[in-house]
Amino acid sequence: MNTFLVGAQWGDEGKGKIIDVLTETNHVVCRAQGGNNAGHTVEFGSKKYVLHLVPSGILRPACICVIGHGTVIDPVSLAQEIRGLEEKGIKTRGRLFVSDRAHVVMPYHRSLDAGRESAARGKIGTTKRGIGPAYNDKASRVGLRMHDFINETVFREKTGERVKETNELCRLKGWKTVTPASIFKDYLPAARFLAPYVTDTVAMLHDLQRKKKNILFEGAQGTFLDIDCGTYPYVTSSNTTSSGLCTGSGLPPNHVDRVVGVMKAYTTRVGEGPFPAESQAISDMLHAWGREFGATTGRARRCGWLDTVLTRYAAMINGIDELAVTNLDGLDQLPEIKVCVSYKAGSRTLHSPPASIDEFSRCKPVFKTFKGWQQDTSNCRSFGKLPPPARSYLKAIAALTGARLRIVSVGPRRDQTFFL
Ligand code: GDP
Ligand code: IMO
Ligand code: MG
Repeated sequence: MNTFLVGAQWGDEGKGKIIDVLTETNHVVCRAQGGNNAGHTVEFGSKKYVLHLVPSGILRPACICVIGHGTVIDPVSLAQEIRGLEEKGIKTRGRLFVSDRAHVVMPYHRSLDAGRESAARGKIGTTKRGIGPAYNDKASRVGLRMHDFINETVFREKTGERVKETNELCRLKGWKTVTPASIFKDYLPAARFLAPYVTDTVAMLHDLQRKKKNILFEGAQGTFLDIDCGTYPYVTSSNTTSSGLCTGSGLPPNHVDRVVGVMKAYTTRVGEGPFPAESQAISDMLHAWGREFGATTGRARRCGWLDTVLTRYAAMINGIDELAVTNLDGLDQLPEIKVCVSYKAGSRTLHSPPASIDEFSRCKPVFKTFKGWQQDTSNCRSFGKLPPPARSYLKAIAALTGARLRIVSVGPRRDQTFFL
């Protein structure tokens, strides 16, 4: 059984937590797009882990983890992440496999990312991990891939060529330049460290499939950060929707058995870009509880009401079969809860997000108001145990989204979850 799991909003929906819960019944977890811009949090017992590029399944000792060719890999950061896990007693050798076709994020990609973000206009609010420039080189067919990276002769030769070209641009713009020597100092030890993990992951995934293993494909970011379907240009540089998991892993579309969409019971967004249902009151409330700070950059996330114009669109383009709603407990104290059901754009009513970011920024949310439950839900372990207004809210948001409610999460820990 092959399960795809995607974020239905702007990332940070709680994918890491749901992946961890689902990994109890899955043998393999595969990342297929994005890079260490992701931050997936998993909590169980008294332990908390944040995974950036290593699939969240690594925390289950029997699980095999694959980083597919659609990802972009910062090798120094990945080596550090693996070492950090090993130090905590989590074995990775023989369990973690990295595609030989994945592209490498180089220091000059981070310079370009930081440089563009420092410009007075056009800031995206990226994670500054070099993700956009790395995918840019891939699309321009000048990128370095993992098979190049672990071959020292090829790596030295290709790096020299690329540094020359990118430094010309950086000098012109006044951005930070890099030297091949400084790259080799950090990257060659990382290449030696990572080489044993690098393999043909397509052949591997297909072999695991033939052996009837359950494979979970762990989406990173969220639907509205998708380079094509998201709120362009305020997006990331990969396809974060379900089809990206096919192209990024080598699993054909007719082998996808189900798509799980993860969404918060409200909405959050990190970085720039329009957010029609944004609410300062919700942000203040959640931040005061120490919640909604980015797992990768520590930035305070912008928060707002649930936007079902977006989640409905996400259900449609991802083909979401089952919904996992997280952070229901974040709404516990509110007397009333609003949900955005459509947008007003001048005199027009919109039921899906417009292509133009200018038009999107002018959209006004049309809200439907629900009764709050003003009760702690974090100890509820079944749908029937939830206060009746919370049940009504969940049923309504699943209906508005147009997908079957399957999983509810009422706290960050593994055990604070139940299935319907
Ligand atoms: P991801 O990027 O989609 O994996 O999500 P993040 O890990 O970046 O952010 C989700 C945050 O919400 C993390 O801090 C999780 O521990 C936390 N979380 C997930 N589900 C719940 C929930 O149901 N309730 C609470 N209180 N926290 C949750
Ligand atoms: P997970 O997997 C939330 C956002 C950045 C920025 C935009 C582009 O944890 O849900 P990038 O560095 O990718 O070029 O930044 O995308 N972004 C995320 N927001 N969760 C993420 O990942 C994100 N990855 C990137 O904040 O707005
Ligand atoms: Mg995250």
